[in-house]
Amino acid sequence: MSAQSSEASVGAVFFDLFGTLLSLAPLDEACDQLAPGRGGEIAARWRARQLEATWLRTVMDRWANFDVVTRDALAVTLHELGVEVPPDRDAVTDAFVELPLADGAAEGLRALHHDGMATGVLTNASRRTLDAVAARLDVDLGHLVSVDPARRFKPHPSVYQLAVDAAALPPERIGFVTANGWDAAGAGAFGMRVAWLRPSAVAVLPAVGGPDPTITTWSAIPSLFAD
Ligand code: LAC
Repeated sequence: MSAQSSEASVGAVFFDLFGTLLSLAPLDEACDQLAPGRGGEIAARWRARQLEATWLRTVMDRWANFDVVTRDALAVTLHELGVEVPPDRDAVTDAFVELPLADGAAEGLRALHHDGMATGVLTNASRRTLDAVAARLDVDLGHLVSVDPARRFKPHPSVYQLAVDAAALPPERIGFVTANGWDAAGAGAFGMRVAWLRPSAVAVLPAVGGPDPTITTWSAIPSLFAD
């Protein structure tokens, strides 16, 4: 189902947080402090280990919130890459709270609000981190939905249900925007109208079934979900 081909009008647009609304690029610099010249390599592996742990913990039913997962994933990554784990590891993981809005995100949100569209964030982030991020940003995000009450991570259907509950709209009336292909797959399988901010021309979606998302850009999002 593409956003354009569905019949029901979209009543709210939710966004993924890390790597979608927020740019992950500064993590390279934070990681470069740990091993000069290797920041990009460490940050990429950290993100991969972080996501892997969310999927494993969800399948294994071993919940810990995203702050814990992120901290543990950094330690695993540094061991894996042979980099010393710093005593102030928390200072590095705090970089997630400080990430800036992605280019075009503020304009996209404001355009949706200008059109009267409700918005929200649906994220793996803990309640505490999500509130800290929202308090720091100079833009209204709308509904702030953390996975914490589900005690599972994306792409478990119970997580996408939290946005349905927050918006009081059925999945087919909720737009979902993400740059993460696996998140696009999960939200689409749940029945949301998914727009994928394809991160690069070579990025591909996982082959896990479900409908193809609409490929989009920040500037196209307001018209994509308009009536
Ligand atoms: C999030 C991760 C998946 O914000 O990026 O939910």
